[in-house]
Amino acid sequence: MNKLLVSLLLTLGITGVAHAAGDAAAGQAKAAVCGACHGPDGNSMAPNFPKLAGQGEKYLEKQLHDIKSGKRQVLEMTGLLTNLSDQDMADISAYFASQKGSVGAADPKVVARGEELFRGGKLDQGMPACIGCHSPNGAGNAAAGFPHLSGQHAQYVAKQLTDFREGNRTNDGDTLVMRTIAGKLSNKDIEAVSSYIQGLH
Ligand code: HEC
Ligand code: HEC
Repeated sequence: MNKLLVSLLLTLGITGVAHAAGDAAAGQAKAAVCGACHGPDGNSMAPNFPKLAGQGEKYLEKQLHDIKSGKRQVLEMTGLLTNLSDQDMADISAYFASQKGSVGAADPKVVARGEELFRGGKLDQGMPACIGCHSPNGAGNAAAGFPHLSGQHAQYVAKQLTDFREGNRTNDGDTLVMRTIAGKLSNKDIEAVSSYIQGLH
């Protein structure tokens, strides 16, 4: 592990959000409205709506707090979280975390470049490999709040990486971890690594 990665991990480790215990069974009923876009079990069909199934509970809960407060802007979800309590959001997070995520396919034309970036990073530019935080199979690190990526829609992943790079998504904490990393990715890199992630399992 290189020095940059170690220091990022240490900083991230001590900046976690407070975590209420979620009840997946109670969350299922509360998540009914979410299913229209994200799929009833969190496996969305549309490539611009992220899959939530199998995503880490802590990460989901953080995103819901960030979206509700406006720290992360999701226009499609405007008003949807207003009447949800912290407990509701914890329950919904527990529900989607308990579902099994589906996997897609990678584009064979770019998969080799995508794998190289995901597993090796860009060491000449000091960019750590994605596997350091998101794990070699893309499962993430639920306890640390590093999101599960494998099987996620490539279109959604590419939009997030572009948003981090352009400063349109800024909820990655004071270390700017994903903004720093995405700043080193070209459009071609983003296309390749996103496609690789969609097929990863
Ligand atoms: C009208 C469609 C729509 C509905 C309904 C909807 N969402 Fe979303 N949601 C989106 C879109 C689009 C995004 C991604 C926006 C972006 O590109 O950043 C998103 C993102 C998210 C994320 C972040 C996922 C990630 O991987 O970071 C979470 C968590 C989430 N939604 C949960 C919910 C929950 C819980 C509900 C129900 C209370 C809900 N959504 C209802 C469209 C919707
Ligand atoms: C040092 C740890 C670290 C490394 C290395 C890292 N990430 Fe991340 N990544 C994170 C964290 C933490 C978040 C969650 C930020 C937040 O809370 O919103 C994240 C979020 C993401 C997201 C958004 C997920 C979603 O569902 O919206 C994507 C996509 C992503 N990373 C892709 C990558 C790729 C591709 C690489 C390698 C080029 C990479 N990450 C390297 C820590 C890391």
